[in-house]
Amino acid sequence: MTQQIGKRQVRELISQERIERRIDELAREIDRDYEDSDGVVAVGVLKGAVFFMVELLERLNVSVEVDFFQTSSYSGTSRGEVRILQDVTLSIKDRDVLLIEDIVDTGHTLRTVLGLLRYRGARSVKLAALLDKAEAREVDVPIDYCGFEIDNLFVVGYGLDLDEKYRHLPYVGVVEDVGDEEDEA
Ligand code: IMP
Ligand code: MG
Repeated sequence: MTQQIGKRQVRELISQERIERRIDELAREIDRDYEDSDGVVAVGVLKGAVFFMVELLERLNVSVEVDFFQTSSYSGTSRGEVRILQDVTLSIKDRDVLLIEDIVDTGHTLRTVLGLLRYRGARSVKLAALLDKAEAREVDVPIDYCGFEIDNLFVVGYGLDLDEKYRHLPYVGVVEDVGDEEDEA
């Protein structure tokens, strides 16, 4: 399937139906793993994780509290330097934390955030990621709940953006002809 969005074509890679079926499975796994927990703090990484996070959390029976981080990579300097733009508001000391991310690419963002959560004394930290671009990994980050492993492609939709666009697509896709939008007018 290809969809025209503004001036570009987006080709579907993973359908909404497949994503939702996979999220059902992940939710069952998470419920089982946290059966004996007194509840989890679900921490999403803004903005991309929000779409996956809502779908995942809606399916859980375990008790959940919700919080967010926002990060950004320093541009123009070495990759791997990650800035925290917005911190969590809840105390995570001695809590079971479920970190939720849209995609693990090089792994730098997640390694930084995981390290911070552990440093603050979380009892446990597990990671749920909708997509895993394993080939692009530069630092090792174990994913406890992974939706799909994908090739080293730039993808959009289901929270993932290209210049802040396409996050709202209910599927994961690839933008065909990623040039300057203005050039294609
Ligand atoms: P990292 O390289 O693992 O630190 O990933 C940093 C961030 O880059 C992710 O959280 C995403 O927001 C973004 N990112 C990585 N790959 C893609 C992609 O294929 N499409 C859109 N955003 C991406
Ligand atoms: Mg992100």
